[in-house]
Amino acid sequence: MEFFLDTADVDEIREIASWGILDGVTTNPSLIKKSGRDFREVVAEIASICDGPISAEVTAMDTAGMLEQAHALKQELPENVIIKIPCTPEGLAATKALTSEGIMTNVTLVFSAAQALMAAKAGATYVSPFIGRIDDTGHDGMELIADIMTTWSQYPWIETKVLAASIRHPTHVLQCMQLGAHTATMPAKVFRQLMSHPLTDRGLEGFMRDWAEVEAQGKA
Ligand code: E4P
Repeated sequence: MEFFLDTADVDEIREIASWGILDGVTTNPSLIKKSGRDFREVVAEIASICDGPISAEVTAMDTAGMLEQAHALKQELPENVIIKIPCTPEGLAATKALTSEGIMTNVTLVFSAAQALMAAKAGATYVSPFIGRIDDTGHDGMELIADIMTTWSQYPWIETKVLAASIRHPTHVLQCMQLGAHTATMPAKVFRQLMSHPLTDRGLEGFMRDWAEVEAQGKA
């Protein structure tokens, strides 16, 4: 079970990394835009904060362009940067080629089990089904995770990890893990929600109040 952060905000990454349970980071062109920073500069900084896989996405639409960008990123950025590739026929060919070179990939924008299967066939390291964006259309994104995991269970030798993405709330994370997804990538807000419970806060307040009295009595 791996937990990734889905952001290009280095302050958030530092915060969650300090909890000791961060396994990797995913970025995409929209998250890079939101950060307001230079793509390579921010990805390099992220890779220095978290030593797990850091997804950096190619933006070319053709296989040759994707491979050129992927090779440049691998050359210029730290070792733990992996290549995020859109789930298109051109992306599939790029994934196959990068896999044969031993370069780790994350096939993104996956919305069907068939697409996930094709990415696995190309040897993707990760495949990223987008749950929240399916929910947004009025369908159940979790059914996609269930479909993919059922397919994977028929072929135990598939090494491609299912990276549940577009996660909106803690229940998404829990359900993905109950279905056996290998990895979940989520915003910092969901990490915080996963750890938060009002009864924990209330219980701690009570303990601290009582302990202050113990100390005041000189019995600590
Ligand atoms: C995954 O790698 C994507 O960056 C991400 O999960 C997309 O999520 P969104 O639907 O919240 O944009």
